Amino acid sequence: MNTFPDLRLRRMRRTAGIRAMFDLEIPGPAKWCWPTFVVPGTGLREEIASMPGQFRWSVDRIVEAVEPVVRQGVGSVLLFGQTDRPKDNGGSAAWDDHGAVQEAVRRLKRAFPELTVMTDVCLCAYTHHGHCAPLRPDGALDNDAACECLAKVAVSHAAAGADVVAPSAMMDGQIAAIRAALAENGFDDTLLMAYSTKFASACYGPFRDAEGSAPQAVPGAPADRKGYQASYANPRNGLLESVLDEREGADLLMVKPALFYLDMIQSVRAQTLLPVAAYNVSGEYSMLIATARQGWGDLGDLVRESSAAIARAGADLIISYWASRYAEFFGARA
Ligand code: PBG
Ligand code: ZN
Repeated sequence: MNTFPDLRLRRMRRTAGIRAMFDLEIPGPAKWCWPTFVVPGTGLREEIASMPGQFRWSVDRIVEAVEPVVRQGVGSVLLFGQTDRPKDNGGSAAWDDHGAVQEAVRRLKRAFPELTVMTDVCLCAYTHHGHCAPLRPDGALDNDAACECLAKVAVSHAAAGADVVAPSAMMDGQIAAIRAALAENGFDDTLLMAYSTKFASACYGPFRDAEGSAPQAVPGAPADRKGYQASYANPRNGLLESVLDEREGADLLMVKPALFYLDMIQSVRAQTLLPVAAYNVSGEYSMLIATARQGWGDLGDLVRESSAAIARAGADLIISYWASRYAEFFGARA
């Protein structure tokens, strides 16, 4: 094999044109999904303090919010909701057929029939304790009751017209329960995207701020989700979560967060033939904004480099708050 001085790898990097010939391209906007927040009420566009550039939108303004994102060619949105009804132990407002998410889905599908509308299916923004499941009187998590609640949420989202429902509660059996409930209600065509390999991460802080969904310490339950979300120190267990969700009937798997878990994206990708989504979460978003605001890095360069890493790890779908600025960072695509 040739070596220096005959072989000079810098030849391949000398000009922008030569580099562009061989560089991998960032996935086009159709392979991106924009997560956003809907709230009850009217006329609202509230910037989220811990996520500059991202907003909570009232239902009547959700079409206005999504229109510029659709115009950039972004293929899908993932909706998170909140309620103005009293929160309870089971998060029952989450399966209100006229909740903010359900109404937003209806409006978006009417305005943009081609847009793929996904919904987060969880209870934590609707339970008074902020956990993703009802709690028993002793504070223990009621896993199997949670599955029944989550199935009701998923059915109400599917009935509103959601193309994809995405359960994020990390309860055992939630995928099987939702798949069965969708089938019973005639929603055979609704895609089920499992937040399958989801870690208990310190990177969800800004999101919990946005959603008012931080877990509270109550007697018997700690103020964290380590009892249900996967441990970052146990990668085999995290991978097994994706294996089981596939067996239970998921159509798409997910690794979340993305940037701290590139190895997990790669290992989930390697052990399944299903598509794999990566969720570039709120803390990963806000970290880059904070760095840029300190003058310690260029935001565009940081976004491009970190997004390329997610793509390189093997993600088929990139769920990222940057999707709302796709054209600015990655240029317009046909
Ligand atoms: C709720 C949920 C969370 C996120 C998505 N769905 C927060 C959590 O698990 O506490 C995080 C998204 C983000 O940080 O961008 N189950
Ligand atoms: Zn939750």
